[in-house]
Amino acid sequence: MSDRFNSRLGVYLCALLGGLTVVTLSMRQMGGGAIQTLPLVPLPAHIEQRHGHFLMDAHTRLLVDDAARGTGEYLADRLRQSTGYPLPISASATNPAGGCILLTTNQAPASLGPEGYTLSITPDSVVLRAPNAAGLFYGVQTLLQLFPPEVFASAPTNAAWRAPCLQIEDQPRFHWRGLMLDVSRHFFTKSEVEQVLEGMALHKLNMFHWHLTDDQGWRIEIKKYPRLTEVGAWRKRIGFNLDPKSSTAYGPDGRYGGFYTQDDIREVVAYAAARHITVVPEIEMPGHSSAALAAYPELSCSGGPYSTDSADDASAGVYCAGKEQTFEFLENVLTEVMALFPGPYIHIGGDEVPKLNWHDCPLCRARMQHEGLPNERELEAYFVRRINTFLQAHGRTLLGWSELGQSQNGLPENAMLMDWIGGARAAATAGHDVVRCPNDSCYFDLYQSRDRTHEPAAAGGDLPLSKVYAFEPILHGLDSASRQRIVGAQANLWTEYMPSLASVEYMEFPRMCALAEVVWSPEPLRNWQSFWTRLQVHLQRLDLLGIKHRRLGTPYEESIG
Ligand code: ACM
Ligand code: ZN
Repeated sequence: MSDRFNSRLGVYLCALLGGLTVVTLSMRQMGGGAIQTLPLVPLPAHIEQRHGHFLMDAHTRLLVDDAARGTGEYLADRLRQSTGYPLPISASATNPAGGCILLTTNQAPASLGPEGYTLSITPDSVVLRAPNAAGLFYGVQTLLQLFPPEVFASAPTNAAWRAPCLQIEDQPRFHWRGLMLDVSRHFFTKSEVEQVLEGMALHKLNMFHWHLTDDQGWRIEIKKYPRLTEVGAWRKRIGFNLDPKSSTAYGPDGRYGGFYTQDDIREVVAYAAARHITVVPEIEMPGHSSAALAAYPELSCSGGPYSTDSADDASAGVYCAGKEQTFEFLENVLTEVMALFPGPYIHIGGDEVPKLNWHDCPLCRARMQHEGLPNERELEAYFVRRINTFLQAHGRTLLGWSELGQSQNGLPENAMLMDWIGGARAAATAGHDVVRCPNDSCYFDLYQSRDRTHEPAAAGGDLPLSKVYAFEPILHGLDSASRQRIVGAQANLWTEYMPSLASVEYMEFPRMCALAEVVWSPEPLRNWQSFWTRLQVHLQRLDLLGIKHRRLGTPYEESIG
């Protein structure tokens, strides 16, 4: 069992008790909005339905302006697969004739924001306008969901390709609509990661947090330090008491693991960018670093040895904060990381740092004395501050877990907090941006149902679909300036018990559908019955896409935590 897992047990017990209240919560919090039965997930901000429909046929053409070309090609590619129609694309910023689908930035009001769009469907045409390509992309996702679910089939299918006449004006509620995937506990290939990204795109999610390093595996090639992946990317066995056959991630020598080359990373980043998804890499420090220390034990206080196999010793996997060599190493690693990830954010972990090694290390003690740091907690804050200064000097924003807010001075300047065990209120009030992912509402490694006989092994505690749907990212009682600091939320997929893409998809869906609506749709529209009805059709889409989601029980079963 990993240390992270053990230390999370307590919070899972809380999640279990918290889950008991979910039925009453769901009735109180989810009854507000009007029932919307057009099967859209997440629900757009404003829909005005009209009579009639647009019929797509073998003569339908796509018109795009320059800014819409990539999105038009994405749409045509999807439609051609399922309809078999040619759907030629031509350049135009206006709609000269009937029977066309026009995608354009022309005449799109700036008030729609960087991710908003309008979609107008009449019997004659489909017109999608957005100030930016991101809005066009989200409008395309909505448009696809207005055709029959078979539009997601991978081979030509006979269906009446009708979309209802309507007018939609839409933009997201939050800027940060995320998903974290842990590829350290289990390794997922580049193509599997791309499938996860495609699932995100379908739900208008835009932040992919890639947990690339941890005690059980280092997954990103760093040219200056080849042992990180020669040694740190592999362990003797699959671990976590799992059946070795539950994964295919083995090297030719039978060891478990794998890593992404820098070319792989560039490819994934480009794949994500084409879907308007920013990739946020996480390089864990100062704790959860056994894999790095297995490769370079001289960066620890004791000199090692460390191993990716001894998950029970994970608590010891902490870089020495007294050695300059540690900071030189991390800055060199981060320099290569920044060259690969063009996005503004670099996540440095910062969670669950045991302080015992530091307490016993002469170099760490000397550092504390020299810097006037009263205890190991402040040594940890010093560590993060130094990395923050480095990242800021390179124009990037540091992100870290809740623990970053626990030092006497709070978060370092301009750093962002990712709230898994609290700290959101204090950080937002102090002017820091905050991403919410509390462990009782956003940890998708928790069980989806109390039924332990049929559910695959998961981390302790329950997180049923209804509880995800009831999650509200904005904390009660925040003033309006602090509310603005809550930039959104994300789901976290810790993969101790997810050794395959199928198991990831099972834990992700349909809970991600619920969280997508939480972060995209206006809060007053949230309505459990409406969501439940729309989800029945939406799951058909996931089936057609080959996504191995969990099947729904009854609405009653789904709301019991
Ligand atoms: C965490 O789950 N330790 C961030
Ligand atoms: Zn030390």
